Amino acid sequence: MSKDTIESRLVEKRVFKPSALFSKQARVGSAAQREKITRAAARDPERYWASEAKKLLWRKPWKKTLEWKPPFAKWFVGGALNVSENCLDRHLGGPRRNKAALIWEGEPGDSRTLTYQQLHRETCRFANALKSLGVKKGDRVAVYMPLVPEAAVAMLACARIGAVHSVVFGGFSADSLRDRIQDAKAKLVVTADGGFRKGQKFGLKQQVDDAVKDCPSVRKVVVLKRTDQPIAWHSERDVWWHEAVDGQSAVCDPVPLDAEHPLFILYTSGSTGKPKGVLHTTGGYLTVAASTVESVFDLKEPDVYWCTADVGWITGHSYVVYGPLAAGATTLMYEGAPTCPGPDRFWAIVEKYGVSVFYTAPTAIRAFIRLGDAHPNKHDLSSLRLLGTVGEPINPEAWAWYHRVIGGGRCPIVDTYWQTETGAIMISPLPGATPTKPGSATLAMPGIDAAVVDKDGKEVPHGTGGFLVVRKPWPSMLRTVYGDPARYKKQYFSEFGPKVYFTGDGARRDKDGYFWVLGRVDDVINVSGHRLSTMEVESALVGHPKVAEAAVVGMPHAVKGQGITAFVTLKGGLQPGNGTTRELVAAVEKAIGAIARPDRIRFTDALPKTRSGKIMRRLLRNVAAGEEVSGDTTTLEDFSAIAKLQADE
Ligand code: WT7
Repeated sequence: MSKDTIESRLVEKRVFKPSALFSKQARVGSAAQREKITRAAARDPERYWASEAKKLLWRKPWKKTLEWKPPFAKWFVGGALNVSENCLDRHLGGPRRNKAALIWEGEPGDSRTLTYQQLHRETCRFANALKSLGVKKGDRVAVYMPLVPEAAVAMLACARIGAVHSVVFGGFSADSLRDRIQDAKAKLVVTADGGFRKGQKFGLKQQVDDAVKDCPSVRKVVVLKRTDQPIAWHSERDVWWHEAVDGQSAVCDPVPLDAEHPLFILYTSGSTGKPKGVLHTTGGYLTVAASTVESVFDLKEPDVYWCTADVGWITGHSYVVYGPLAAGATTLMYEGAPTCPGPDRFWAIVEKYGVSVFYTAPTAIRAFIRLGDAHPNKHDLSSLRLLGTVGEPINPEAWAWYHRVIGGGRCPIVDTYWQTETGAIMISPLPGATPTKPGSATLAMPGIDAAVVDKDGKEVPHGTGGFLVVRKPWPSMLRTVYGDPARYKKQYFSEFGPKVYFTGDGARRDKDGYFWVLGRVDDVINVSGHRLSTMEVESALVGHPKVAEAAVVGMPHAVKGQGITAFVTLKGGLQPGNGTTRELVAAVEKAIGAIARPDRIRFTDALPKTRSGKIMRRLLRNVAAGEEVSGDTTTLEDFSAIAKLQADE
């Protein structure tokens, strides 16, 4: 493991002030103004959030801003609204009617632009199709799609009729899809005959066929034709998208929904058990998604805004679809890989569409650094005015490169900290107001009571590391783990009592109060900006007939942030053969998907355990990173297991 991937975050001293030019045109134009807003919001958070919520279109006003029965919150109680109406219909009465809502580019180079009016029309037609296929308010719909406009249409159509979507990232395996469909008891699946990625066609329909075999809840599968690949067809169950919408009316009244009506479920990894279905609801979620997209990305009418996330992740929900559309922005979507057909594809897209606000992940930035400056330098990136990152801490080197090479030294960078569970950005610079420091997400957003505490829940002094918590409810917080409120309580509201939300991250604040997120403190690893549970990878490995035991840990990885090392013991004297590593990698791919593929598998006769039999992953983390084994080893049953692993290196 090369040492240059280990960051020296503590010595970062650079401060970048927003330029006077940027501040002048920004919504929030000075640190003092941010401070003022933040103070007022802290004095009366309900009032602050109510004023943000009022910017949306409500069909019925709420009676009570917050009902907080820790750890369960209800926001805007008694109010009614429709998310799709807020994202579409609301913009049709004025000049935005013919504004591009969605600019899409396919990997092969095809492209489409949908105005607000057109997106509204497609959404209404698909919503009517869903209704005629038997989908009703409250039903769950799984969406397993490539990144095409229809993915957004499917989400908005569900929202329009009050169906609850569960988008499953197209890179997940059939087994992962099956588990998610089963947990949500989805009635319908929306998919495609495939998509394009890295110059190839990939399939989705076969995975759906495999998954749905074990999903009795599924009545219909809607299939979008995208690649024209041959697919199996089950005529009693499968319906082509184009046939389903054929003849459907372009009028579909948005159903006014209770503010707490579920909008979507999105599955995310936890440290134990199966993935958690994070549940978000209607009024609170949209309030914060819309409010933050405007303040953090400082959106203006002419902006072309591009968030590179897939709709299969929360970033795609809040900052590709719902936030920007609620704000009446132009949101860009690109289907494929950043390096196809050449390593300059992203920059070619920025130039082609005149992208002005660009939001991506540190892992992508690190990959671009490796590809070299020549690729961005070939393109005119002068349309860019603001850059953002999300997903993991950004190393200062990558930050500086992003600022200099992509931003031409003139674009502020917003490093946005948040999670699937928080629904929207929690800690971030406001680009016209907040001086930035490379590697820090800076300050909590107005209305967000973030703090760093010790294990007793007491706030630690600035400069000291601790646990990152949020001490007051906020409108876009998850409401529960779908079907498992006990897990919700245990996972997020037990460590520091039922009133304090625990993020699972470590952090420290510096003398200016800036937050420096240090990464996960639980058994969760962050690969390319996405959380994976070590436990799930382990159970995929142990599912292989040759494997006796497995322990999975994260290790520093130059591009992905964290890579995966698996320590594996084989059953009764078996020796790893030629193909064993390949078989085990395939087992993980099948169970979870390529995203969880171990970077390294190390076979060992024994795993380091405590006397009570717990695997000491902390020590394995040291081994995987090529570090000295540190900390207390007195509970270790037998040191020889560790000594041997280190000697093998
Ligand atoms: C975890 C959440 C929210 C969208 C993408 C990931 C890490 C996220 C940052 C950041 C440092 C970050 C945290 C968090 N994380 N953004 N700007 N700086 N760490 O969503 O899969 O729910 O993962 O990503 O560890 O807990 P997610």
